[in-house]
Amino acid sequence: MLVLGIESSCDETAAAVVEGGVRVRSSVIATQHDLHAEYGGVVPEIASRAHEERVLPVVRRAVREAGIELADLSAVAVGHRPGLVGSLLVGLSAAKALSWSLGVPLIGVDHVHAHLYAAALDAEPIPFPALGLVVSGGHTTLYAVRSPADLSRLGGTIDDAAGEAYDKVAAIMGLGHPGGPLVDALATQPGADEHAFDFPIGLVQKGNLNFSFSGVKTAVLYAVRGRPAPPPLPGREPIVVPPAPPLTDARKRDVAASFQRAVCTALVRKAEAAWDAHGPFRSLVVGGGVSANSRLRRDMQTLADRLGAPLRVAPMKYCVDNAAMIAGLGSVLLAEGRRDDLTLAAVPTTAC
Ligand code: KG4
Ligand code: ZN
Repeated sequence: MLVLGIESSCDETAAAVVEGGVRVRSSVIATQHDLHAEYGGVVPEIASRAHEERVLPVVRRAVREAGIELADLSAVAVGHRPGLVGSLLVGLSAAKALSWSLGVPLIGVDHVHAHLYAAALDAEPIPFPALGLVVSGGHTTLYAVRSPADLSRLGGTIDDAAGEAYDKVAAIMGLGHPGGPLVDALATQPGADEHAFDFPIGLVQKGNLNFSFSGVKTAVLYAVRGRPAPPPLPGREPIVVPPAPPLTDARKRDVAASFQRAVCTALVRKAEAAWDAHGPFRSLVVGGGVSANSRLRRDMQTLADRLGAPLRVAPMKYCVDNAAMIAGLGSVLLAEGRRDDLTLAAVPTTAC
């Protein structure tokens, strides 16, 4: 069974062919990072136009690199939620046209759930039930995963996603976009002191499974640019707040390492709390762009060892947005009898 996957939810145009739901025959990703870098974030209209230009060449290349013809496909899977609607529509329209003209099923896939499925690509089956953690630019969510397509949400961020916080911290330090890999690289430079700053670990004292990353982001802003002076009180001298020390390379390294410690600590503690509260689970599965983070991968392995369960995290090339995860999860849904039709809609939010 060969399934073509198409992904266009944000700023990567991707297509892939997956065999039997697991073996990745091809995975092509055209990133748009260069188009959005000067704006410090993804500009939706620019993203949609770039998808429009790239989607057919990317599909053609995925089919060619898989060594197959379009006529060999059993189905077309497409990420149809969540994402930027204008971007989703481009991939969705291409997928509908292909499925209709080839006479094969169309299957809509939830992009966030597909991030967890990425851990099953080119790998052994994931032992279920699993505790799932998706950490991406748009989502930070814990799931009880009974099977690849049967998930329930246990908790998630109440403000920024972890990846979004990484990107904003990189912007505050003037590092570039996307910021996650740049902050990760700084944080792991020799001499970086992860205890230099005592940044807040969001919601860690609360007995729930939610995350908050806006506090640590603001704390980084103050560490880099200084605290704003409080408004002067009538009849009192204005309070003079000392400026932040110069942002030397050493200070940047320390900010990055301390920020990374705060984010990873929150992710690990809440994952452990979810494991205790909602288990038993047979594995810990982590996916999404931030699962490429060097410290998070190490810390999650330490947690899995402590829990005595296998850690399943996607190979690096399937952590960030890709279409192999879409084709893979689409194959599972196809085998379960799922079929969508040409009324399949682009939806900005995840299913759960
Ligand atoms: O999953 P993804 O490609 O897109 C969404 O579905 O959002 O995730 C992108 C996010 C970006 O915020 C990026 O900065 C972050 O993943 N990211 C990382 C690393 N690599 C990518 N964050 C931390 N450390 C990394 N090594
Ligand atoms: Zn994603």
